[in-house]
Amino acid sequence: MNVVVVNDYDEMSKRAASIIASQVILNPKSVLGFATGDTPIGTYKELVKIYKEGYIDFSDVVTFNLDEYYSISKENPQSYNFYMKNYLFNHINVKDENIHMLNGMCDDIEKECTSYENLIKESGGINLQILGIGRNGHIGFNEPNANFEGVTHLVHLDKGTINANSRFFNSVEEVPTKAISMGIKTIMSVKKILLLASGIKKSEAVYHAVNGPITPKVPGSILQLHPDVTLILDKEAAYKIS
Ligand code: F6R
Repeated sequence: MNVVVVNDYDEMSKRAASIIASQVILNPKSVLGFATGDTPIGTYKELVKIYKEGYIDFSDVVTFNLDEYYSISKENPQSYNFYMKNYLFNHINVKDENIHMLNGMCDDIEKECTSYENLIKESGGINLQILGIGRNGHIGFNEPNANFEGVTHLVHLDKGTINANSRFFNSVEEVPTKAISMGIKTIMSVKKILLLASGIKKSEAVYHAVNGPITPKVPGSILQLHPDVTLILDKEAAYKIS
């Protein structure tokens, strides 16, 4: 694991955006995997800035997102579909037909998951996947005790994750209790991973993911076995490993 420690959230976001931009410049047909949540918002803002300055072209880029709440419509402002449009897709020249997001309102979950996995394979595989990490060590929505062999599937969210994500909703009761998420196997199949973490609240999860035993109890610990992972951590998130 390549661990980069930076001063703060802004520096983390700039570093991450420049890595994503380099990926697209070197391979304009890159397949990018995106995450949602608080952590990558600054990265997406930086990426939009770099795009507007004319340095990158997303017209041949293909995208996949890690997860989506179930069941929630893509028009719902709490959905990850909405989030991605709001923070990134509406501001860059990625083609609609190249954007792949899980449908949180699908009728047939199994079909949705299988077709998502197939689309990833047909695209040639994800070149660069952005990840955040949950306070409980989750990656995507693969909660503690996730199956390391799992592909895209329906997950039941942990109480802690529901509480943590309630900050985006009016009340904790409004937070969906389920989500569709790429599995650990899907994530481990990508070529390159960029994991971002900021703030003291993530330090414990980061510590266990980087230094702890590889265990389903901390899903992020599996990343120790991936051949190309870069972690960009701010000082607070990194303080237990440094
Ligand atoms: C989001 C995702 C989650 C988040 C994690 C951290 O698509 O898959 O694993 O990355 O919950 O969320 P934030 O960044 O809000 O702390």
